[in-house]
Amino acid sequence: MNSKIKSKNRTLREIERKFHLSNDDLAKIISSFHDEMKTGLAGKKSDLKMLPAFTDAPSGKEKGTFLALDIGGTNLRVIEASLSGNGSLKVLRSSKTRIPAALMNGSGTALFDFIASHIAKFLHTKKSGKFKLGFTFSFPVKQKSLASGLLITWTKGFTASGVVGKDVTKLLQMALRRTGLGFVEIAALANDTVGTLAACAYSCQSCDVGAIFGTGTNACYLEKLSKIKKFGGAKGRGSMIINIEWGNFSRLTRNEFDIVIDKKSNNPGKQVMEKMISGMYLGELARIAIGKLYDLGEIELEKSSLRRTGGLHTSQLSALETAKGEKYSEIIGKTGLSGIREEDLPAVAAISRAVVTRAAKISAACLAAVIMKMDPQIARKHTIAVDGALYENHPGFSRTLRNSLKNLLGKNSSGVKIRKTADGSGIGVAVIAAANR
Ligand code: BGC
Repeated sequence: MNSKIKSKNRTLREIERKFHLSNDDLAKIISSFHDEMKTGLAGKKSDLKMLPAFTDAPSGKEKGTFLALDIGGTNLRVIEASLSGNGSLKVLRSSKTRIPAALMNGSGTALFDFIASHIAKFLHTKKSGKFKLGFTFSFPVKQKSLASGLLITWTKGFTASGVVGKDVTKLLQMALRRTGLGFVEIAALANDTVGTLAACAYSCQSCDVGAIFGTGTNACYLEKLSKIKKFGGAKGRGSMIINIEWGNFSRLTRNEFDIVIDKKSNNPGKQVMEKMISGMYLGELARIAIGKLYDLGEIELEKSSLRRTGGLHTSQLSALETAKGEKYSEIIGKTGLSGIREEDLPAVAAISRAVVTRAAKISAACLAAVIMKMDPQIARKHTIAVDGALYENHPGFSRTLRNSLKNLLGKNSSGVKIRKTADGSGIGVAVIAAANR
């Protein structure tokens, strides 16, 4: 092997090592995640906000027809769902639109007016009547009741002004009135993870965790009321869903590339784990790490899109992986990447894989921590409802997550199942609205 190739391989191994997590590292993540969960539940300062969702899991017997509005990372969706009362539900109609970047970063009023106008289009023939709306709002919200809550901070690139610290239900209700939809009543507010859990639990009684791996990442779980120390109503024998807001977990070892991506973000120092895991960041993280090989003269990228910020999208990482073993021209065609020499492609793919593998292992460790918090011996069955494009479209991510979770849970891991719950976030809030009326 000539010295040029040896040097390239050496640098590549060094970069891969920076993304490596040993079993010991994962055990430490589980333990510090537990510490943060406990302090968060006690209402003390913690990375994990542990936000009460003001609802238990549904029973499956809920009935009725509901509207649901789902604002996620990039899209806005309205659905009309009908719940049968026997665990089965049907989406009667749905409509989806992209939220323009200018609105994510403009005024809150313009953003909420846009949302209300989308609902108006959905209901175009209806001018009155009573409509109950479930509102899925996929950001950290401190709920005051089932249908009200204050936005703590924006995440995922949103910065719309005048919303942080405000009751998002009120802002939506006001926008609905301005749009002539005062007859639509917001019956429930929920995080997307909570919606996902509820949608799955409607037909699966062992579902007690909801997780999203999409533009952003987060999870929620079912906690005993007696363990939610900070919650005034923590008496009684029931349980309540807790929105962990795990994207903000920071007790993780960051490498030089994590630090670069954090500094460039519009929320430096926050959402540390989200920046290591979610779709909004993984492509860029891989691009920055691949850039190191170029900076050291090990690969040639002069004419490649990888030289530009945003030049590698998370979806291209999936394409790179699924194209493994195919011809160079086919891989390039499939991924849409240009300006990468054939001899450099394996190194580019190896770094992409290292980035995704770490993301999946951290996710598995945190899911394992959540399961063990509820049930240290894993004596019961648990189902984890999962949604999000990263889990859905990236086979390497979902495979590594599942394998890693199994290893971390050990001998009782067979009692823990993952169930894909596509579009659960919107449907689930309809279930929550029905469960609490
Ligand atoms: C938000 C969470 C949300 C997650 C997934 C994060 O950025 O803080 O509230 O659940 O993204 O959409």
